[in-house]
Amino acid sequence: MGRLVVVSNRVGPMKDTGKAGGLAVALVDALTSSGGLWFGWSGKISEEGTFGPFQQQRTKSVQLVQIDMNQADHDSFYAGYANRTLWPVLHYRLDLAVFDRAFENGYRHVNERFASRLHPLLQQDDFVWVHDYHFMPLAATLRQMEVKVPIGFFLHIPFPPPEVLAALPNAGALIRTMLAYDVIGFQTSRDAANFRRFVVEELGGTKGAGGVVKLEDRQVLVKAYPIGIDAEAFARFPETADAQRNSARLAKQLAGRRQIVGVDRIDYTKGLPERFRAFARLLEDYPENQGQVSLMQVAPPSRAELDAYIDIRRELEGLTGHVNSRFSQLDWTPIRFLARAFPRRVLAGIYRSSHVGLVTPLRDGMNLVAKEYVAAQAPEDPGVLVLSRFAGAAEGMPEAISVNPYSDEDVARGLQRALTMPLDERRARWQPMFDRLCREDAKTWSSSFVADLMASRRECGVSL
Ligand code: G6P
Repeated sequence: MGRLVVVSNRVGPMKDTGKAGGLAVALVDALTSSGGLWFGWSGKISEEGTFGPFQQQRTKSVQLVQIDMNQADHDSFYAGYANRTLWPVLHYRLDLAVFDRAFENGYRHVNERFASRLHPLLQQDDFVWVHDYHFMPLAATLRQMEVKVPIGFFLHIPFPPPEVLAALPNAGALIRTMLAYDVIGFQTSRDAANFRRFVVEELGGTKGAGGVVKLEDRQVLVKAYPIGIDAEAFARFPETADAQRNSARLAKQLAGRRQIVGVDRIDYTKGLPERFRAFARLLEDYPENQGQVSLMQVAPPSRAELDAYIDIRRELEGLTGHVNSRFSQLDWTPIRFLARAFPRRVLAGIYRSSHVGLVTPLRDGMNLVAKEYVAAQAPEDPGVLVLSRFAGAAEGMPEAISVNPYSDEDVARGLQRALTMPLDERRARWQPMFDRLCREDAKTWSSSFVADLMASRRECGVSL
């Protein structure tokens, strides 16, 4: 097997610093097992930007190669087209999307620069795997440079139906560039079907067998590869000294009361204000929970230079104050809002001490918190997962309590059901979810994608 070359905007961290998103965590697993190159942005802004020197590092069997961006590229590519245009549109939030020609040009330009810096690093038997919405046109640019190795793309976030995507100016041209990939992966079968529909209905392509779409001389495999976690390793985290120390601190503070936990980057897609309102609704509709059940929301700040993110944080701080001033008792605070990151081991301890995992995004590609919460539970006395029907994870976790995150009444009802669920039902729901997480883990995800990418080479007989 050839070398795996991964391209993503964020590279690493290879170690768990607590800041790693789901993407980074899953890719570390994939790359360490096969060895390879990981190429992307250094996270730094410099004057030379994408023209500057490579920053190289070798960890285990993985070579990390990163380049900077200059301020203008960062503003138009990362803070502009990627996060003010594509992020909201792909999450069905047309109301928050900004359409600006300068963003679009910056996005194209940075994709071209990344492709031209990556090109000389590629070897004949490589497989290139590009990740996420930052680099949708990357393969098309590499193909213009005569790169012929298999190139795959995986979208970690949702892909909306053509009715929504059509609102993006030049959507047709952008999606057409994606047909330069050999394999395009999505989190759910719904996302993959939405993509195929776009190619057929908006670009005039046709559907082939097994999820293939065809347009002119291109044939692309379009398929769902639901991302997993390293469930067995995560299940061991709550037993580590670090996690146990933190669980003990938490247990002391809870003093026999129960806790609902949420863990999300501060992002408008996560349904956090709706969640806080639903928790208040639980206290109103089922008052026996007052003084007894609290909500701990861990929320690392994210993309804090963008207005929409500043607004949502402010709203959450206001709502926390509002709910707490209304319901607090001398020795009980309803909402604990922690706007910071924790290492995953510590999170595992928090998950295990929490009776309910509350995951209510308005729209989410997969949501690995749902999976990590389940993996961290004690088999003899597991907590209950309350999960938004609009998270990709819902497709593979039918035993969770499914809720509509837009309805505070529905979420409050789901929470009450979780809080009053008998032990045998909790176990009966938890076991099949945990077994599935172990079977369909991070390794299964990456190896099934890479296997399809390798098969595409055999079919085309291509070389660099
Ligand atoms: C999501 C995206 C990732 C992104 C992460 C953190 O998980 O799918 O591509 O890296 O959010 O966002 P940031 O803008 O800080 O990289």
